[in-house]
Amino acid sequence: MSPPAYAAVALEGARTILHAHEEYARVFAEITRRAPGRFSSRDWHGMRADALERLELYRKVLDPALASLETLLGPGLCDKAVWSAMKTAYAGLVAGRPDIELAETFFNSASRRIFHTVGVDPCVEFVASEVPSLSLRSARVLAETYSGAQGTAAALWRILAAHPFPSGWEDLARDAGLAAEKLDAYLTELWGAPGFDTAQVVRPVFFRNKGAYLVGRLRRGQKTMPFLLALVNPRGKVVVDAVLADEDEASIVFSFTRSYFHVDAGNAAALVAFLKTIMPKKPVGELYTAVGFNKHGKTELYRDLLRHLAASDDPFVFAPGEAGMVMIVFTLPSYDVVFKVIRDVFAYPKTTGRQDVLDKYRLVFRHGRAGRLVDVQEFEHLSFPISRFTPPLLEKLLAGAAGTVEVVGDEVVLHHLFTERRLTPLNLFLRDAPRPAARRAILDFGEAIRDLAKCNIFPGDLLLKNFGLTRHGRVVFYDYDELCFVTDCNFRELPSGDEDDGGGGGEATFYVGENDVFPEEFETFMGLRGEARTAFHERHEELFRPRFWLEIQRRQREGEILDVFPYPESRRLPHPEPATA
Ligand SMILES: Nc1ncnc2c1ncn2[C@@H]1O[C@H](COP(=O)(O)OP(=O)(O)O)[C@@H](O)[C@H]1O
Ligand SMILES: [Mg+2]
Repeated sequence: MSPPAYAAVALEGARTILHAHEEYARVFAEITRRAPGRFSSRDWHGMRADALERLELYRKVLDPALASLETLLGPGLCDKAVWSAMKTAYAGLVAGRPDIELAETFFNSASRRIFHTVGVDPCVEFVASEVPSLSLRSARVLAETYSGAQGTAAALWRILAAHPFPSGWEDLARDAGLAAEKLDAYLTELWGAPGFDTAQVVRPVFFRNKGAYLVGRLRRGQKTMPFLLALVNPRGKVVVDAVLADEDEASIVFSFTRSYFHVDAGNAAALVAFLKTIMPKKPVGELYTAVGFNKHGKTELYRDLLRHLAASDDPFVFAPGEAGMVMIVFTLPSYDVVFKVIRDVFAYPKTTGRQDVLDKYRLVFRHGRAGRLVDVQEFEHLSFPISRFTPPLLEKLLAGAAGTVEVVGDEVVLHHLFTERRLTPLNLFLRDAPRPAARRAILDFGEAIRDLAKCNIFPGDLLLKNFGLTRHGRVVFYDYDELCFVTDCNFRELPSGDEDDGGGGGEATFYVGENDVFPEEFETFMGLRGEARTAFHERHEELFRPRFWLEIQRRQREGEILDVFPYPESRRLPHPEPATA
């Protein structure tokens, strides 16, 4: 190809990718904008369908774009020189775009699908983005400021009134009053007196499942804190359900264990910059993911990891806890992420294979996570310096996952891995925790099983080592290979002695189907003893009875979408009628 023709083709290729990115952004926004309507008309099934459609959108747009590129480039599709020219052309096209970082990630996704690049290749990918740091972006443009000078109730009234919904408010004045009482009591506890100078509230509303949130921050003097109003629609009109005002509470709402928000912000970077001001401990990658840009969230996580590796020298080690039968799990002590590599073969009694495991982890990606399933990022062809691996870990990886891990020169190449936030495995936590903390964790373990059931998930493997605690002390589940839908299980009573095979004298035997689950046996699996066992029984006895599970099953089958709200009862407004339905 002559040089001018080459340049022309590269430009055309870059345009093809950019058009695909624009199509992605357009449809993403279009789906996101349906949320206020879904919320107003209590169309929870529609909301769920939108969430799934949006999760699948990236692939749906990228695949045909790659097919068009193949037509355009022919054999040049696999030519790095062509891609390098395309990258230069693309950089010119996206310069100055408000969503430049998302556009660059989209280019990288296309490039990585072609080259299966090990590590990253700056010739054909945007590595360190040229995007100015988030702090330089104006986050303020997204938020409206309200004065607290006329009192908390008056300010809340104006905030609510500035966010109209198609269905209208059930009783705006009532809710502004109730929310103000709640907020003032909290401010008194925290800052010694009620009231605030200003409230800044993000203009677009955050939607997720059956809830909606107004998100902002309060200021008094030099002090600021996050501020969230949780909204529900129990009877056809919008009601304020809860007031949250502290970094941990905001963080729990934005947790990596929840589905992604639908929020029509226009500019993702500005939105993330604002969220970072109220939740400074949350990694930028997690914030992008929380508002639906999970591919870019993954890019940010990867860049952060590279920066961290360059700035630290501790080696990768086995993750604390019991080794898994399916996964080899390792971590970097100075970085709170775990890396999970699927073993080549699974120990007895596992009968599943690699593809089943992949399918289960991908199922979780598409399913609601109820605040109880950790978000997983899937990576291919990562490469780390061999010097960062302890010899026993490297040995185990090469022996147990030879199909996935290889040493190439001075690098360890991991062809496939999952990353998750590192939690404290519940078995380890209970071993060392003081009694009150252990009790809290045990009770929350039961709540986790209930919340999962409400979103139709049965963990399959209830051993304590498969659950972990977040830094907020919430119990979440992370071992997905045995997970299944509650509606696919056959919950049964254990037959009593005289219902056995009738042979008499011998061991009781009875037919157990593949999907049979015996809740009475959970206790044995959990391995709870002493006080932990007593505490669990006090609060969660019904989890050991088939009746509980059959009832959940019935409600799921009838199409009911059950409530799982990300805040404690104590934050909810004292409405005379329950605000949820
Ligand atoms: N997100 C996590 N945070 C901390 N430790 C983890 C995490 N995921 C896994 N582990 C540790 O690795 C072990 C094995 O991981 P798991 O996901 O349970 O795989 P397997 O299916 O092989 O049992 C766990 O028992 C736990 O000790
Ligand atoms: Mg496990």
